[in-house]
Amino acid sequence: MFSIVYNLWLMVEDVIVQYIDLDFTLWLTWLLMPLLITFLLPLVIALLLYLTALMLYIYKLHRVKLRNAYGTAWRDTAVHMVAAVWDAHGWIWHGYEIVGLENIPQDKPVLFIYYHGALPVDIYYFTSKVFLYNSRLVRLVVDRFLFKIPGWSIFADILKIIPGTIQSCSAILKEGNMLAIAPGGVYEALFGDSYYELMWQKRMGFAKVALDAKVSIVPFFTKNLRESFRAVSWGRRIWLKIYAKTKLPLVPIFGGFPVKLVTYIGKPIPYDGNLTPEELQIKVADSLRDLIRKHQKVPGNITRALMERIRNTEKHKD
Ligand SMILES: *[C@@H]1O[C@H](CO)[C@@H](O)[C@H](O)[C@H]1NC(C)=O
Repeated sequence: MFSIVYNLWLMVEDVIVQYIDLDFTLWLTWLLMPLLITFLLPLVIALLLYLTALMLYIYKLHRVKLRNAYGTAWRDTAVHMVAAVWDAHGWIWHGYEIVGLENIPQDKPVLFIYYHGALPVDIYYFTSKVFLYNSRLVRLVVDRFLFKIPGWSIFADILKIIPGTIQSCSAILKEGNMLAIAPGGVYEALFGDSYYELMWQKRMGFAKVALDAKVSIVPFFTKNLRESFRAVSWGRRIWLKIYAKTKLPLVPIFGGFPVKLVTYIGKPIPYDGNLTPEELQIKVADSLRDLIRKHQKVPGNITRALMERIRNTEKHKD
């Protein structure tokens, strides 16, 4: 496969060098570079995800040796290493920070509710940081389609990621764990825009989970998330149709811009048995919208978000 592509490229290069003068190709390369980079960077993230899978496999295969080296908790060691890699990536690429870590109730089950970006990179950075600081793994609920991707099962196994029914989510919380759900899911990811509106489509499974498990809900939002990766905004009607048919995230995503990312953790919404799931859903949505309104300038602007990356970070801490 690669050798065919490579040979084809050599042929094309030959033709270009013979029939077009080199200055033009040089110019063409420069012209296409930003395009190449923007569509290539999502691939870098995909590559990093595969690298993560690879590391997890290494730990799984070598666990006997590692058990002697690190004690019996090889899974913990593996998660630790993966978290360190992602934390480093977030720090280098986005100057990633979390504000409001003190809002996470200690030693208690928590249900996190968050806004879903085009590519939810913030959740990788967030769970990594929380794990490194708290030694607690935030369980993630993700769309079912991910479980059909080859190589995914090791993620699900070691990072404890689930497709999530109300019963299984509730059970995880009742065991005292932390769980994170983005009620907007793939729909919000693909069809949300730089105005950061919630697109929850009356989904209230998460509210039923919280009421059933009697846990508090903590909302969080990552500033400039949609400026790091964007779903293309053209052809919306066609993409909507394709999504309705397939339920797959087929809308092209571009980006990878090193914009400033800051996750703001909101105040916990305590368990209240008198609320119906509908009422709780509205309450949580309002609280998340407040976070977005407070911290995100809309419409999001990539240039501005990049400038924030360069400027002193202290300003974002107030
Ligand atoms: C984005 O922000 C930059 C710098 O603040 C500004 O010059 C530019 O006009 C903005 N772009 C849009 C589309 O609003």
